[in-house]
Amino acid sequence: MSTPSQRLVAGLDLGSTKVIGVIADAAGTAREPLVKILGVGTATNSGVRRGVVRDIEETTRGIVKAMRDAERMAGVEVGTVYAGIAGEHVAGKSSHGVVSVTGDEIRTSDVARVNDVASNISYGRDHELLHAIPQDYLIDQQAGISEPIGMTGSRLEAEVYLVTVLSSALHNLGKCVERAGYHVGEFVLEPLAVSLAVLTPDERELGCALVDLGGGSTNVAIFQGGKIRHTGSLLCSGGHVTADIVQGLQVTQQDAEVLKDRDGSAYEPLVSEADTIELPSTPGQGPRTAERRVLAHIMQARLQEVMEFAQNEIAQAGYHQRLPAGVILTGGGALTPGVVELGREVFAMPVRCGTPAQGLTGLADSVESPRMALAAGLVYYGARQVWQTGFGTGGLRSPAVDKWFGPVKRWLQDFF
Ligand SMILES: Nc1ncnc2c1ncn2[C@@H]1O[C@H](COP(=O)(O)OP(=O)(O)OP(=O)(O)O)[C@@H](O)[C@H]1O
Ligand SMILES: [Mg+2]
Repeated sequence: MSTPSQRLVAGLDLGSTKVIGVIADAAGTAREPLVKILGVGTATNSGVRRGVVRDIEETTRGIVKAMRDAERMAGVEVGTVYAGIAGEHVAGKSSHGVVSVTGDEIRTSDVARVNDVASNISYGRDHELLHAIPQDYLIDQQAGISEPIGMTGSRLEAEVYLVTVLSSALHNLGKCVERAGYHVGEFVLEPLAVSLAVLTPDERELGCALVDLGGGSTNVAIFQGGKIRHTGSLLCSGGHVTADIVQGLQVTQQDAEVLKDRDGSAYEPLVSEADTIELPSTPGQGPRTAERRVLAHIMQARLQEVMEFAQNEIAQAGYHQRLPAGVILTGGGALTPGVVELGREVFAMPVRCGTPAQGLTGLADSVESPRMALAAGLVYYGARQVWQTGFGTGGLRSPAVDKWFGPVKRWLQDFF
């Protein structure tokens, strides 16, 4: 039985607009991992843009603030964090491997060998492997085998989904975390972590798209048959919505964020024509008002475009009309009133907001927001690690194992 400190896990969301740290205790059992939220800390941050560090000092400061706040709330110190990674520099592709089976039946070593063969391809200059996720095995050309160990056959093939990242992006994020006094236990592809916090097993099985409406990017990931099948990052995002409000209503960026949060709507028909809002103004401008519908019009136009790009990404990946469980929205943009109504119109699929809720205890309400989905997902990921390996690293000021310096090759067979 692990001691409480060995069951501590910490997650770090290094977003384009903020850093969030979450500390949790891995409770429950290996079959049903529970996450007891102990502490949460948030800091605004402009040092990271779409998963790439722009300002080391600023990012380090953000990590220190978010993690220290989370530690104070939890009443514990952590050493190691699970950090999310996403952005245009992340690429996913399927790869195929074949080996001949040496013994009478397929053993773990055969599976490891075929996985290695499938992932032994060129990742492109400056890129390294983040995850290798087995999708399907074939024994003597019979497909659809998820667990080949113990079966009989002479030829074993594997379909593996490989996720690669720009090495420098990974190292620079790791550097900021180290400077802040923590250590990255593992980098985790953002939608993989998010999926653990917000998707139901049925959604993952039937087929759905996870669309994260972030401040710097929009991430689209497709799940089907219980596995991740595609991931893509789009440039158009919440930042563009803010920029349109700045332009359209002649307000500062900060005021545009306030308007979005206080009076925003993603769907014009939901806003009464009689509604007016007060606009921030300079002393020279004097008091200003605007119809709330104007703000909704601006926001809807851009969010609709963002969703159309996401729809396009889904179609290009070959999943048009193939996702019966529809679209699950996360990220700050998913907080906009009317976003589900707009989504249903654009995607012509079921749409809902993804709020972390399943298997949460402790201070669960502090992560029950679509904007917290990644940070919560990272501690879910950590909790599963604890239950699979028997202990976590969160509570230890561990020696610099520097996992992220080598190719971070992890088989996620048992995970996804
Ligand atoms: N209450 C709200 N209503 C509408 N929009 C909101 C609200 N709160 C936050 N947002 C928007 O959400 C965006 C930030 O979302 P989020 O925190 O998920 O991004 P991020 O993780 O920092 O960025 P990225 O994932 O792109 O790197 C901003 O554009 C912000 O304006
Ligand atoms: Mg984000």
